[in-house]
Amino acid sequence: MNLTLHVWRQPNPAAPGRMETYRLQGVNEHSSFLEMLDVLNEQLAAEGKEPIAFDHDCREGICGSCGFLINGVAHGPQRGTTVCQLHMRHFKDGEELTLEPWRARAFPVVRDLMVNRGAFDRIVQAGGYISVGTGAAPEANLTPVPKPLADRAFDAAACIACGACVAQCPNGAAQLFTSAKVSHLGLLPQGQPERAVRAIAMVEAMEREGFGACSNYAECEAVCPKGISIDFIAQMNRDYIKAKLKGTVRPSADAPAAA
Ligand code: SF4
Ligand code: FES
Repeated sequence: MNLTLHVWRQPNPAAPGRMETYRLQGVNEHSSFLEMLDVLNEQLAAEGKEPIAFDHDCREGICGSCGFLINGVAHGPQRGTTVCQLHMRHFKDGEELTLEPWRARAFPVVRDLMVNRGAFDRIVQAGGYISVGTGAAPEANLTPVPKPLADRAFDAAACIACGACVAQCPNGAAQLFTSAKVSHLGLLPQGQPERAVRAIAMVEAMEREGFGACSNYAECEAVCPKGISIDFIAQMNRDYIKAKLKGTVRPSADAPAAA
């Protein structure tokens, strides 16, 4: 199949970006989208031009590294699919595709289709953990976890931190990601002691990073490759409001972690 690609090229965060057009011939319909870009990059390198930079690692839909907009849709047209798992057979011969990096104030462009998602790391650092005392690990069966709760926590834990939810949201909001991270710990018995401070710390970290506010567009859920439900946003909001009403205070960054 033959394709025309319009790709955002930006050499560094400070430089102005521009769209460049590339024409590809004989694209294998069984190749993945990233393999198609690999072939294009080999052609560009052979011509002495700069290859297109894009993030990738596992190429199995599990690490969350990859992601960009294809014709304005995060991860492209196939629902529940990361761009590394998207195959060229889902496109038509002669199609024109526009590739852009995630567009969000909190995700500055690093180069071409790569953005800096360090804001997600800082949200997780604020509270996405369970504090445990050092020493021997407790016997696993001492803490039974009801099956429905385990299943629901697992649904939230499926988030791979790709950032598609932020990119698709007209507000650039990170509620779906943050709520998945808050909920997968907050649902489990082991996560209860820090549930209130976790909700406050992670929501406030999200706000500090410059993400937008959630106004229930649900675009995030539509493009999430892991099918994370916006129900988790309601759960996070409940936890946050309950914690605030109880007067829970976020511990200072210098305070020792709870034992
Ligand atoms: S909630 Fe979905 S779209 Fe958002 S970061 Fe997690 S996996 Fe990606
Ligand atoms: S490269 Fe790991 S999810 Fe796409």
